[in-house]
Amino acid sequence: MALTTKAKEAFYYSDGWQKASKTYPIHSPATGETLLEVANCGADEATRAAAIAWDSFQSWKQKTAFERSDILMRWFDLMMANQEELARTMTLEMGKPIKESRGEVAYAAGFVKWYAEEAKRVYGETMPAHLAHKRLFAIKQPVGPVYAVTPWNFPSAMVTRKAAPALAAGCSFILKPAEHTPLSALYLAELWEAAGGPPGTLQILPCENPVPVSEILIADPRIRKLTFTGSTEVGRILYKQSAETIKKISLELGGHAPYIIFEDADLDEAIPEVIACKYRNAGQTCVCTNRIYVHTSIMESFTQKYTEAVKALKVGDPLNDDTDIGPLVDQQGFEKVEEHIKDALAKGAKIITGGKALSGLYFEPTVITNISDDMKLMSEETFGPVAPLISFETDAEAIQMANNTPFGLAAYLYTNDLSRAFKVSEALEYGIVGVNDGLPSTPFVPFGGVKQSGLGREGGHWGIEEYLEVKYISMGLPK
Ligand code: SIN
Repeated sequence: MALTTKAKEAFYYSDGWQKASKTYPIHSPATGETLLEVANCGADEATRAAAIAWDSFQSWKQKTAFERSDILMRWFDLMMANQEELARTMTLEMGKPIKESRGEVAYAAGFVKWYAEEAKRVYGETMPAHLAHKRLFAIKQPVGPVYAVTPWNFPSAMVTRKAAPALAAGCSFILKPAEHTPLSALYLAELWEAAGGPPGTLQILPCENPVPVSEILIADPRIRKLTFTGSTEVGRILYKQSAETIKKISLELGGHAPYIIFEDADLDEAIPEVIACKYRNAGQTCVCTNRIYVHTSIMESFTQKYTEAVKALKVGDPLNDDTDIGPLVDQQGFEKVEEHIKDALAKGAKIITGGKALSGLYFEPTVITNISDDMKLMSEETFGPVAPLISFETDAEAIQMANNTPFGLAAYLYTNDLSRAFKVSEALEYGIVGVNDGLPSTPFVPFGGVKQSGLGREGGHWGIEEYLEVKYISMGLPK
């Protein structure tokens, strides 16, 4: 089934396709060209969306779980049938290499399939009663209309990781996609409509300035849940704003992932894992490793083999099948990478390979050593293709260095020692630990962080709980 995106006609999706009074341009990070002008929603569209979400929630929650499941399953089928076009759209709007974009569409569709199934397993409980004439139950009900804010680095998967469990649970859903990547989100809305999703259940409000849209929707007491993926800084603001109406909250925030390579690691096995973890999406994910700790005894051999593998990565046009690293998403992201390298060099770091800007928004995949804790790249997310290598002597030292951060999203280790694998994973203060696995993400596991990396979990049966409330019912029978 081929669909033409309504985005081309500057529509946004509400109770059907609507025109906004303004538009804004979407640029390709690979070429700098303007791809198209999209709807630029503001306070008026947000006010309208809140009312529509409230109305559509009243009928959507009355559908049986089986009816909702059927629509989600059709949505999944349509996503997979349109995988190539969705992948292309994503690559055009944010520069992800096309082979990764295809993978992301399958990952995104995986959430839809999982929650189509999970919709039918929202079970309640009965409790033994303390009095003979009473019967006690707990049931689960949808929390209500949801407001979601998603990032540009996963334009499809971060949408469905939130929308699929919310819609499966019976919530209506308003999405503000990232400013850079509304096209994937609008495409997903077209497929939701084609799958039979009722008008108003899923709304997409692209906007250049998210502030007025977020302020209206967060202040509205009818919106019962906020779910956000993005920086800790913005998450903190949205969390505070949501306190006013006591919304249920999920926050998937920044990370600063350590990767610990122990001396017993098989380097030929370990290096491809670390490379995938570090350089996927040009290093622009919250779970990409930011600090690679290598045992002193293998530092030299690791550095040599790792550098060889980095040099083999192909930087280029993200639409080419063999490209490993595309452009960074925008000038701001690009400047941050440059700034981190400059700061590290000024404080004594040494570049092993890379370290330089290429043309446009492209940056060389970089390996850097002689690292000290005061360097920006050791405390802030670089969000770019830069790998700092740091040596350590003991397990205790590695754990202490890995945990020395306010973040706690993902951490990784590589070892062949089973006892060490258990002990270190248990000691790491993180929501996700990859043991000999640099790519642990998949739709049916709990994804989320501790400390300042967020609240709540997405994925698996944990993900749908975030959109449900528990209601306790106490029933007295005639005595
Ligand atoms: C993220 O960067 O927030 C998501 C990465 C993933 O799902 O693997």
